[in-house]
Amino acid sequence: MKINYQKKFSLKNKKVFIFGGMGLIGKEVAQAMKQFGSNIVLLDLKFKKKEFKKKFKTKSIIFEEFDCSDLENISLNLNKIIKKNGCPSIVINCSYPKTESWKDSSFSKINYQNYKDNLEVHLSSYVWISKFFADKMVNKKIKGSIVMLSSIFGKFGQDLNTYKNTKLSENMTYSIIKGGINTFTKQMGSFYGSYKIRVNSVSPGGVKGHVAGISKKQDKLFIKNYINKVPLGRMCKPEDVATTIIFLSSDASNYITGANIFVDGGLKSIR
Ligand SMILES: NC(=O)c1ccc[n+]([C@@H]2O[C@H](COP(=O)([O-])OP(=O)(O)OC[C@H]3O[C@@H](n4cnc5c(N)ncnc54)[C@H](O)[C@@H]3O)[C@@H](O)[C@H]2O)c1
Repeated sequence: MKINYQKKFSLKNKKVFIFGGMGLIGKEVAQAMKQFGSNIVLLDLKFKKKEFKKKFKTKSIIFEEFDCSDLENISLNLNKIIKKNGCPSIVINCSYPKTESWKDSSFSKINYQNYKDNLEVHLSSYVWISKFFADKMVNKKIKGSIVMLSSIFGKFGQDLNTYKNTKLSENMTYSIIKGGINTFTKQMGSFYGSYKIRVNSVSPGGVKGHVAGISKKQDKLFIKNYINKVPLGRMCKPEDVATTIIFLSSDASNYITGANIFVDGGLKSIR
């Protein structure tokens, strides 16, 4: 039988939930999914009407206000959204939950409360959102795909040389959060495999744009230092992440689960 390879990449009429859908990466993922014909629900903290209209110019993307850090009510809140919009077969988590103290997470500044709170709002919300949807998919016999945003720093430590003479510093908790997401991805891939639900993560290198939760612009020296180490000689672009997520969401990656894909311009290959 001749295989239709184009169809394998199709996301036509698939219901997709994108957490952190108004963020740097989330918005690009939504754009890409829209082009592939998906029905999209963006979930994020606040509805920014102007930005939303400018970016999406379509009625096929719905916005739902949702706070990932409200862990006590996570099932209640998600059940309400599902009741209204239906259950997705694709769930992408691009959110970046953090507390006010996130910018003080270097080894020298961090305190226990900061560490504990950020672990809770980021790692725990990723865990509970993924588990919630995987269980729903099992219940509704949906062969779904879940993709979580990790980072190269879930695999290896931050290179302090790239921060030298910049206002930036390393972040102690980030490595624990992203390392946790990587291992949980494997554990979920294993558990939900027999239900034909696939769970994968994506680890981008530094994305050009901003330093989430720290500053609107990236330090020029940081970019120079960082790029010097990347074999492909540039920073990651949001669309590099979006295309990888398209692959992981579609049937083209039907035999991939529990994986963590690096989108890092080859950085990992020389570490
Ligand atoms: N930008 C990078 O360089 C980079 C590199 C590697 C990995 N990542 C990962 O990719 C993901 C997205 O990063 P980004 O750069 O797009 O971040 P971003 O800050 O641009 O976007 C994150 C989005 O999450 C939303 N958000 C924050 N707290 C929330 C909450 N409690 N509930 C719901 N939504 C919430 C924000 O409103 C924002 O729209 C993160 O997990 C991040 O760790 C980013």
